[in-house]
Amino acid sequence: METMHPDVEKVLFSEEDIANMVKRLGAQISEDYKGKDLVLIAVLRGAVVFMGDLMRAIDTDLAIDFMAVSSYGNGTKSSGTVRIIKDLDIDIKDRDVLIVEDILDSGLTLKYLMANLVSRGPASLEVCTFLWKDVEGKQAAIDPKYVGTHCPDEFVVGYGLDYAEHYRNLPYVGILKPEVYA
Ligand code: PRP
Ligand code: MN
Ligand code: MG
Repeated sequence: METMHPDVEKVLFSEEDIANMVKRLGAQISEDYKGKDLVLIAVLRGAVVFMGDLMRAIDTDLAIDFMAVSSYGNGTKSSGTVRIIKDLDIDIKDRDVLIVEDILDSGLTLKYLMANLVSRGPASLEVCTFLWKDVEGKQAAIDPKYVGTHCPDEFVVGYGLDYAEHYRNLPYVGILKPEVYA
């Protein structure tokens, strides 16, 4: 196991676990999108690390673009509103769009994003999320087609996921010690 950051209580998914998930997702997406006009849209900033790995695990032609939305700010709870901070640069009309996210938690971010992107007339629109906190009764109705793994209802950091902009560079996913955000 990797050396743990002192603020991390427990490693949930190791680098090796993550590499295996990415490989499996990449193979599935390659198969499903062969011959299609695939556009991966990563949600800044959390999804950057996953995007970098996932795109290299896909061996069919694709384009990438980024959107920045934020709902959490520096807190551990969603603010309840989603803001677009950076829009797409490319046109997704009639293209096969796959949204790449690091985590699906309350679903607020993806609910907003999907409604926004569907109005631009893509040929298809699906979601690939690395982590899915599918806690009962807590989540907006989002049905991600591709999921790396389910995630317990803990404050997780690393592999792109932050707390107040820290920990995104950890190569594993860990649970933050409660005293760090208390
Ligand atoms: C986090 C995370 C997801 C979203 C998930 O982003 O990266 O995008 O929250 O939460 P939800 O399902 O409850 O909406 P955040 O707003 O913290 O911005 P960041 O990606 O820049 O960290
Ligand atoms: Mn995010
Ligand atoms: Mg965040």
